[in-house]
Amino acid sequence: WHTEIMQQIHAAQTLSELQSLRSHWLGRRGIITLAMKGLSSLSIEERRSQGQQLNALRETVLDLLTSRQQEMEMAEETTQLQREQFDMTLPGSWPQTGLLHPITRTRRFIEDVFLRMGFSLEYGPEIEHEWYNFEALNMPANHPARDMQDSFFINVPGMVLRTHTSPVQIRAMKKYQGRLPVRIIAPGRAFRRDDDATHVPMFFQVEGLVIDHGITLADLKGTLTTMAQELLGTDIRTRFRPSYFPFTEPSVEMDVTCASCGGTGCRVCKGTGWVEILGSGMVHPVVLTNGGYDPSQVSGFAFGLGIERLAMRIFGIDDLRLLYQNDMQFLSQFQSYI
Ligand code: PHE
Repeated sequence: WHTEIMQQIHAAQTLSELQSLRSHWLGRRGIITLAMKGLSSLSIEERRSQGQQLNALRETVLDLLTSRQQEMEMAEETTQLQREQFDMTLPGSWPQTGLLHPITRTRRFIEDVFLRMGFSLEYGPEIEHEWYNFEALNMPANHPARDMQDSFFINVPGMVLRTHTSPVQIRAMKKYQGRLPVRIIAPGRAFRRDDDATHVPMFFQVEGLVIDHGITLADLKGTLTTMAQELLGTDIRTRFRPSYFPFTEPSVEMDVTCASCGGTGCRVCKGTGWVEILGSGMVHPVVLTNGGYDPSQVSGFAFGLGIERLAMRIFGIDDLRLLYQNDMQFLSQFQSYI
């Protein structure tokens, strides 16, 4: 048996193979165990000599099994350690850091300018009652300006995706309940059914509204020119052109000198040297009344500017659609965390 056992133990590759050899030879019904039990049927002399041999064999096998088991356990531990070893001198992998979108930065920039001028922030819903979006702003159901707005209607009668941030003018007036002064801006999304190189169906505006005793067009021009110079630099110039909005009278649009050509005329400004950035005007008496203010006592101005236009102007972006493609190559050019 001795040689047989030696061969088997050396051939064993795993701890469980060793374990089964152990029970095969030394277990309760193991070959050596049974042989030892069978000794009682022998004569005293045979029992003594065979007993000694079997005992010695048992000892040898036990020792061998134990030392093989220790070897295997150590080998296993070594491979485990090798597997778990790591090189702490390797360079780390850098997580990508997020950046603020140029539109977000422009919006915050605008908010900052107006907050420093004493304005506060107001917000209104993107899904709006037609009354706030149109009627209250002096655009009754048959008013032709409603067509100009190219509205998205939704399945709920009387509701639209707001076509501009101007409904927040009415909401703010109602919230202020006739108190003075009203001096607010309202940033947010607006929705119109157009989609081409210079228009997208969802865009951002910042609405502004000031109401107090004796507010004039001079306040409008001064405030908006200051804003433009804060945003675009003091060397910029502004001009105001007469325009029309149902909710302001008179209405004016503000242009700034073109950044691409500095005012000499190019493709961006279609040769005029000027780029339009906002619509504005003196709040129409009907609108003041709808908001709960008395047009014989107070007056105000309002404006609505497109954030995208300003972002393009500030960051030198020439295609509006780049702002919405979420192309990391494009966006990662604007490294700033503020
Ligand atoms: N709501 C107008 C637009 O979206 C802009 C505007 C706002 C004009 C306030 C005058 C006063 O074009």
